[in-house]
Amino acid sequence: MGFSKALGAAALLYSNVASATVTSTGFTVELGDVSYFLPPKAVTAIDVTKYKHLFGTGSFVPFTVIECTECHEKEISSAVEKYLQKDDVFQSGFLQAIYVQGQPKSPSYHAYNTSATTITGEAKLAPGPYFLNALGQIHEAWRLYSDYTGAFTESCISTGDGTFSVLPAGIVGQKSAIAVPSRLYYQQTEEKPLAGVRIGIKDIYDIKGLRTSNGNRAWYWLYPPAENTATPVQRLIDAGAIIVGKMITSQFANGEVATADWVDYHEAFNPRGDGYQDTSSSSSGGGAGIAAYDWLDVALGSDTGGSVRGPSQVQGLYGNRPSHGLVSLEHTMPLSPTLDTAGLLARNPLTWKAAAEVMYKGNITTTTTYPSKINTISWPTSANTIANTLLLNFLTNITTLLNATTSPINMTSTWISQNPTLPAFETLLNTTYTTLITQEQIPLVRDPFYADYAAKHDGRRPFVNPVPLIRWGWGESNNRTFTLAQAHTNKTLYMSWLNSTILAPNTRTCSESLLLYVGSDASSTTYRNAYRLSAPRPPLGFSRGYMSVMSETPDFVVPIGEAPYNSSVTGHVEYLPVTVNFMAAKGCDGMLFGLVERLFEVGLVKSVLAGWSGVKGGEALVLRK
Ligand SMILES: *[C@@H]1O[C@H](CO)[C@@H](O)[C@H](O)[C@H]1NC(C)=O
Ligand SMILES: *[C@@H]1O[C@H](CO)[C@@H](O)[C@H](O)[C@H]1NC(C)=O
Ligand SMILES: *[C@@H]1O[C@H](CO)[C@@H](O)[C@H](O)[C@H]1NC(C)=O
Ligand SMILES: *[C@@H]1O[C@H](CO)[C@@H](O)[C@H](O)[C@H]1NC(C)=O
Ligand SMILES: *[C@@H]1O[C@H](CO)[C@@H](O)[C@H](O)[C@H]1NC(C)=O
Ligand SMILES: *[C@@H]1O[C@H](CO)[C@@H](O)[C@H](O)[C@H]1NC(C)=O
Ligand SMILES: *[C@@H]1O[C@H](CO)[C@@H](O)[C@H](O)[C@H]1NC(C)=O
Ligand SMILES: *[C@@H]1O[C@H](CO)[C@@H](O)[C@H](O)[C@H]1NC(C)=O
Ligand SMILES: *[C@@H]1O[C@H](CO)[C@@H](O)[C@H](O)[C@H]1NC(C)=O
Ligand SMILES: *[C@@H]1O[C@H](CO)[C@@H](O)[C@H](O)[C@H]1NC(C)=O
Repeated sequence: MGFSKALGAAALLYSNVASATVTSTGFTVELGDVSYFLPPKAVTAIDVTKYKHLFGTGSFVPFTVIECTECHEKEISSAVEKYLQKDDVFQSGFLQAIYVQGQPKSPSYHAYNTSATTITGEAKLAPGPYFLNALGQIHEAWRLYSDYTGAFTESCISTGDGTFSVLPAGIVGQKSAIAVPSRLYYQQTEEKPLAGVRIGIKDIYDIKGLRTSNGNRAWYWLYPPAENTATPVQRLIDAGAIIVGKMITSQFANGEVATADWVDYHEAFNPRGDGYQDTSSSSSGGGAGIAAYDWLDVALGSDTGGSVRGPSQVQGLYGNRPSHGLVSLEHTMPLSPTLDTAGLLARNPLTWKAAAEVMYKGNITTTTTYPSKINTISWPTSANTIANTLLLNFLTNITTLLNATTSPINMTSTWISQNPTLPAFETLLNTTYTTLITQEQIPLVRDPFYADYAAKHDGRRPFVNPVPLIRWGWGESNNRTFTLAQAHTNKTLYMSWLNSTILAPNTRTCSESLLLYVGSDASSTTYRNAYRLSAPRPPLGFSRGYMSVMSETPDFVVPIGEAPYNSSVTGHVEYLPVTVNFMAAKGCDGMLFGLVERLFEVGLVKSVLAGWSGVKGGEALVLRK
């Protein structure tokens, strides 16, 4: 009989008072070559008088709770088969002992494994793997994974009373260890649709008990742990989600490119292709984590000017910028409240949709009647590359599915013909985004931060990365030329136009039409080891990613495949994702989620895989032995 080997133990917390208390922060053990974390609080205790012989020199005995009715040999072995398939935490090492609930009629469970001990007791436990100690205390088994892409800023674990603390565990991997509980403990229900779903949170959302960094080291240490949990996070928790950590963000959620821009923290690593492509930003950790780890299900990001969509496009993930205002954002760092949105990244479209339905609860209704008009922007016209062939086939297939008509549109010429008295929208909106993000973030974030820091540090200014600093500087020095009032006027002009033409509402199909554009097609690379030719500049100008930003409409990234490129890192052909962006009228998020579900049902889109390739999976290159 093998025993788990206890490695870590209780941490000691000293205080000035006479009787310093010892608080257990849990345990780390190894079972075979897999590391586990045992939360400090036992789920229950049983009488172990009969099982003293099990403990030998080890402090914990791994065992499995089997859910069975008759509990004969066949039923148990099929349950075990299912556990091995469904759960990454469970392994055969937990079969050293089997816990059979209550008093099963048929005692033939012994025959399942005659060399295993059968533990019986009255305690009702969810099925799955556990650890038992000599006091009879039963602890859950959480598996420890290495955050090898550097996607997390901090790992965390719920303390069970609505607050979170940093996970006190480490394993090989040079980065944080992240702990995830067995999937077998949870059953998704109508009330807890996200039970057991593992979610990482961009480090601009407060989580009670944890510090927030906003991607800035000075900020992290200046302010105490959060006393509140941001609304989007709380909604996920209330639906049963397991929050496993805070994830890397570019500083103050501004757009940064690896490596020079990322001074305070290192950008996460994109696992796709050669492994040295930029993750895009600002939800960098969320994108990299979902792309790399099959043990992580969903990441909560935020999208002000593309921060969910960018990481989703370059890593081949489902990712949404929702209609503006679907969920309130208190206890969340603002970049521009006029434009800020909370969006989700996932590999499985159904999990993505389930998390969205919870997070936008009350402001989203999934519908199943779809527009039969599809407009496209800059869609390829010739199947001259693998990516273009994928895109053309996809458009044909969705057009057939929806019995739709498809037309390419030219936004520039349509605008000119319909707004003869206005300047081109590229001119109208040239400075609008930069004006909004700087003039809204300066008073809401920069000014109080500088004041608080100066007060604590004898008038000093905190370190800020080049990108936010240059943007804030531009905003400040142009605040008389480009005003917030103008920015709102210009944005409204564009929004009303889009709402009356290309993305008009429709009572039957929610949106008069769908608007599709190419998200990514492997035709461009952004190597993280490239030297930039110049300092970062404010994000002036207009690109198609700003259409939804300015019009408050939903903009969803949907992965459809991958295409080859020649990597200058590996000197070899590698593959990067091909994605399509779907837009619709404001408030039609539920229609888009319904549509993606439909596409999934008929096989036009698939779950993407974690690792090297979203289509074929495989370990990221850096992990290969
Ligand atoms: C049976 O029990 C032994 C000893 O406890 C254990 O090592 C083994 O993995 C178990 N085998 C199965 C198939 O459950
Ligand atoms: C729903 O949207 C409205 C309008 O944006 C917003 O004020 C409200 O907070 C949202 N509801 C919830 C429950 O978040
Ligand atoms: C598809 O749409 C056309 C009109 O656009 C209509 O005549 C036809 O019946 C539709 N077919 C189906 C299968 O809905
Ligand atoms: C769109 O229209 C503008 C203005 O007429 C024109 O300059 C541009 O070339 C057109 N773009 C495409 C892709 O045809
Ligand atoms: C956008 O604004 C910048 C800075 O004011 C200016 O240099 C550039 O020409 C403008 N571009 C357009 C298309 O208006
Ligand atoms: C708004 O549009 C006007 C007219 O084109 C332009 O002069 C102004 O600079 C724009 N300002 C902002 C902040 O978008
Ligand atoms: C513009 O920036 C200056 C500081 O350079 C500040 O004093 C002023 O209040 C700002 N004006 C607006 C409208 O934000
Ligand atoms: C879009 O237009 C409709 C009227 O067709 C109006 O009810 C709605 O409020 C408008 N939405 C936006 C975002 O402008
Ligand atoms: C890679 O480079 C080779 C040699 O230049 C070229 O023939 C090939 O088309 C390139 N492949 C891709 C996917 O760009
Ligand atoms: C999509 O269409 C192409 C050709 O038009 C076809 O070869 C392919 O099988 C279709 N894909 C799916 C998933 O139906």
